[in-house]
Amino acid sequence: MDSVQVRLMREDDLASAERASALTFFEAERSTRRVSDPEVEPRSAGASEQWVDRMRFYLSVDPGGCWVAVEEGTGAGGVVGFAISQNRGRLWFLATYGVLPSHQARGIGKRLMDAALDHADGRPGIFSSSVHAGATRRYRLAGFSLHPQMRMVGTVDRSTLPAIDGLREGRADDFEWMDRLDQNLRVAGHGADHGYLLGTLRLVVSRDMTKPGYVYTDDRGRASLLAASHPETAQKLLWEALASSRGRTLVNCITTPNEWAIDVGLAACLDIGQEGYIAVRGMPVPAPYLASGHFL
Ligand SMILES: CC(C)(COP(=O)(O)OP(=O)(O)OC[C@H]1O[C@@H](n2cnc3c(N)ncnc32)[C@H](O)[C@@H]1OP(=O)(O)O)[C@@H](O)C(=O)NCCC(=O)NCCS
Repeated sequence: MDSVQVRLMREDDLASAERASALTFFEAERSTRRVSDPEVEPRSAGASEQWVDRMRFYLSVDPGGCWVAVEEGTGAGGVVGFAISQNRGRLWFLATYGVLPSHQARGIGKRLMDAALDHADGRPGIFSSSVHAGATRRYRLAGFSLHPQMRMVGTVDRSTLPAIDGLREGRADDFEWMDRLDQNLRVAGHGADHGYLLGTLRLVVSRDMTKPGYVYTDDRGRASLLAASHPETAQKLLWEALASSRGRTLVNCITTPNEWAIDVGLAACLDIGQEGYIAVRGMPVPAPYLASGHFL
């Protein structure tokens, strides 16, 4: 009999799942690292805490999308794989997915993905994919289209920063129109995710409600999620993020329909690189939009 059981994740799996995630992604990043990339570092204690916090949030909002693979007798909770997905309205997204290196290529990933997709119940789906060969194989076999993503890196040349007007700090009472905007761009609003994001990130929004848009930036000024009705608004929001960046910065998750972001990055003297894929099924690649890796 198979000693690995795939079942819904519980709160008391979180510590074991975090250990499995840290090890899985450390090894995956090491094996796919390019020679020019920095050395891969083990996950920090702070990042581990954030991971557990985020998974606890997913469990509280949509527990039916959170799955683990557990092996009896492996000790310390026994989680050997996880697929954490969520439904928001008519949209399904995959927040994170992994199987311990020692357990890969044995069909555990397929069982986890099947359980998560069952929960999707035919909804359009989206997530950000690594370049790991097992992952991309699994995703394409599940019917997802893989759209290559670009990223822009470097230190902003501050002499290129334009004067930016028409923006203000965002608040919880902006969520309603932000959700309507997201419905047009990516099938469904972020719903409860906005509360989580606003708790940890800065929100900047467009004042012009005929051309709405918003961006969440982290404490280093990196755009973590950006959505806009028009490319001009998206560019303004990205410039605002770049203006608040410190040191080397990153603009991530840029797909070809979002070349407006490439144009801003190039004007700010950042370099173009390529990293992973946006995977979609039953929906187009969102634009003007820069997805969040965790909340899509
Ligand atoms: C993606 C992942 C969860 C899949 O789990 P898994 O248990 O290996 O998945 P499965 O065995 O069910 O299926 C993977 C498929 O790719 C193949 N595969 C697995 N690892 C592979 C590798 N390193 N190189 C090439 N093919 C691989 C398997 O043979 C299988 O193909 P098949 O179904 O035609 O036999 C796992 O490989 C993983 O954790 N990867 C590293 C972390 C990662 O990148 N996660 C995705 C983040 S978006």
